[in-house]
Amino acid sequence: MPSRRKSAKNSASSQKWLNRQSKDIYVRSARGSGHASRAYYKLEEIDKRLNLLTQNSWVLELGAAPGGWTAYIESKIDVNKRGQLIVCDTRPIQATAGTCVIKGLYGDPATEAKIEEKLVSGNLDLVLSDMAPNITGVRITDQAASIELAELAEEAAKKWLRIGGSLVVKVFQGDGSDSFIKKLKTYYSMIQVIKPRSSRAQSREIYVVGQRFLGGS
Ligand SMILES: C[S@@+](CC[C@H](N)C(=O)[O-])C[C@H]1O[C@@H](n2cnc3c(N)ncnc32)[C@H](O)[C@@H]1O
Repeated sequence: MPSRRKSAKNSASSQKWLNRQSKDIYVRSARGSGHASRAYYKLEEIDKRLNLLTQNSWVLELGAAPGGWTAYIESKIDVNKRGQLIVCDTRPIQATAGTCVIKGLYGDPATEAKIEEKLVSGNLDLVLSDMAPNITGVRITDQAASIELAELAEEAAKKWLRIGGSLVVKVFQGDGSDSFIKKLKTYYSMIQVIKPRSSRAQSREIYVVGQRFLGGS
């Protein structure tokens, strides 16, 4: 495609995105409340349904930037007492002083080692992943990348979650998502698939929640 046509197309889609953002009630609420992203409301909704977080929870959050979920978790757990929150992303994350921020690519052994070093214990109560791939627009590629990230999160949970703990993981609905969910059923006695109201209807993202971890090997 000639570059002028391509940049016209890009600026039209940017404009569409800007229009959609300005109308989106969750974007407006997030701005009004000072939250880093509208994603805050997705986790709030999931947690209100399932009560995953308590003051003393030990939590690992993957794909945390810009920090919407982090702010929600910080509002629920007491990181200055018994709770612990470790957040990880390649991009900068807004977090309060008691939260442990790991900047790095999850999946890279060096990042995993940094997380391991910070864990008070390998007995986490909750592992969350909102990791999402950079969208290329090629559906098959984006779908495969989403499944890969979901699997990384699942592996993290297998490594560090306590028996009885929970996992919340974003995955795009499509090729591989059903088998991913089926696999999780081996490791958790309760599985729910949630599409929060605050998740855009046109987005293929869903959240799979595994509760009562049975242990993994
Ligand atoms: C949808 S955003 C997360 C939004 C976040 N939950 C919030 O509430 O602000 C997805 C994030 O996943 C991160 N990400 C994708 N792959 C990653 C990886 N392998 N390791 C760490 N972060 C990753 C991206 O950098 C991006 O910031």
